[in-house]
Amino acid sequence: GAAQLLAGRRILVTSGPTHEPIDPVRFIANRSSGKQGHAIAAAARAAGAEVVLVSGPAEAADPAGVRVIHVESARDMLAAVEENLPVDAAVFAAAVADWRVADASEQKIKKDGGGAPTLTLVENPDILASVSRHHTLRPRLVVGFAAETEQVVAHARDKRLRKGCDWIVANDVSPATGIMGGDSNTVHLVTAAGVEDWPSATKAEVARHLVARIAAELSGTHP
Ligand code: C5P
Repeated sequence: GAAQLLAGRRILVTSGPTHEPIDPVRFIANRSSGKQGHAIAAAARAAGAEVVLVSGPAEAADPAGVRVIHVESARDMLAAVEENLPVDAAVFAAAVADWRVADASEQKIKKDGGGAPTLTLVENPDILASVSRHHTLRPRLVVGFAAETEQVVAHARDKRLRKGCDWIVANDVSPATGIMGGDSNTVHLVTAAGVEDWPSATKAEVARHLVARIAAELSGTHP
């Protein structure tokens, strides 16, 4: 098996989209397969970590040996994340919906000839930013993701500072790349020290590489 680089460590990963209810049968969501986040949870487990995966409704199957907490909305995801701190490192790979419907209807909204309903949106909590700024339980290493369609690295550098996390894994998700829902990924790791351009690889390989970097950071062996 993989070297037990993360033995004795607790790692939390978020993955998948969130679903924000409009009414009992309709929701707003982001496009996310959960493949990259689930692969990170699996790789951390293979490296010997105790892993908690907080996942929205993802296509990817629950990884073996990982405690998976299934959630629907961003607010549920935040609550599940907070309940599972402290951890040594947290990786926020979920595609969280930025907004939810202010007053989700308890009954199915009917098409009653009165015209289309107007949805009022309110901002969701930012899970990555709130954990990064947690006063007592901030993990030693907080890793965010940035899915961008242009100026990928510039936006990721801004995001690292704005969110208060340690690293950003940035990827170009413009439709031509095929990354969305696909099995491979081309990422840039943005840290306080600078930017590393990683070679294109499968999502499983990107996950193993990230896990090795996390292990090195936690043990203080990264050059
Ligand atoms: O701001 P943006 O959504 O592009 O930031 C992406 C990063 O922030 C990802 O790591 C994502 O999981 C995280 N995020 C979050 N909670 C939100 C929005 C984004 O944890 N409400």
